[in-house]
Amino acid sequence: MTAGLAIIATPRNDGNSEIAAKIILDAAGFEHKSIINLYDLNLKPCTACYSCLFQEGCVIDDDVTWILNKINKTDALIFISNTYFMGINGVWKLFLDRMLLLNQYKNIKNTPVVLLAVSGIKGWEGLTLSSLASAAFSMELDVRAEADFVATLPGDIENHKKQIINIGKILSGEIKKETNYDEFCNFCGSNCFKISNETVNCAVCGKPHKTGEPVITANWSNHGDWLRKKKNEFLARRKELLTIHNRYNKLKYKIKPDKES
Ligand SMILES: Cc1cc2nc3c(=O)[nH]c(=O)nc-3n(C[C@H](O)[C@H](O)[C@H](O)COP(=O)(O)O)c2cc1C
Repeated sequence: MTAGLAIIATPRNDGNSEIAAKIILDAAGFEHKSIINLYDLNLKPCTACYSCLFQEGCVIDDDVTWILNKINKTDALIFISNTYFMGINGVWKLFLDRMLLLNQYKNIKNTPVVLLAVSGIKGWEGLTLSSLASAAFSMELDVRAEADFVATLPGDIENHKKQIINIGKILSGEIKKETNYDEFCNFCGSNCFKISNETVNCAVCGKPHKTGEPVITANWSNHGDWLRKKKNEFLARRKELLTIHNRYNKLKYKIKPDKES
């Protein structure tokens, strides 16, 4: 593997996410090392137009296709998110919500990736790692390792340097990954579980823990086909859906800041 690309989202220069990315890129020994900080880019929210399923590119004029072209060309990926309000950083989520576009980037499937969550308080990491795991799952990446680290002040991540170096070596294939299925879902890599009727199910893919089949068995590559069929259903049911829309459109509850005041 010659090229490694880390994706982070942080307002801090050389903060914990960036330092962790640099440690992994160096430990993996990539010839070409790159970091994209999503905060540096122009990213807009998905408009739910579904055009990307039917035509090339995205109708939104921003940097998402630039990032996907970079991801498409790399040999290995590093996804790192800091924890904001017990979940993934909002800018990361903004980017992930645009991933219907992946339909157009078949090369990305099976790219090796490692996932890191960085949080400031032990036990307050919330859903960050699970969100990265569900992203990797839906992008059909090859998750080689995942871990969450507590690092409060910028630079504190160095306390975990040894473990992070190991993650770099797992990514490059220098050392073998060790997956602890007691902590992570062995189907999608999430570490978030729901308890219902005395069974423990993965909160992301629905797999009953350790036994049984996952609820989401769909091949994500074929998800575009399913969505494209939905367009025909939408056209067939348009009138009926419009009556529902009109019923709620009458209720003018939405507020926005007044531009004139
Ligand atoms: C707005 C905001 C919300 C945060 N929320 C959490 C949180 O819910 N749980 C937690 O453990 N740390 C939280 N943190 C701390 C960061 O996750 C932590 O400082 C992390 O190291 C930042 O990574 P960075 O240096 O790469 O930006 C929050 C920080 C900010 C600025």
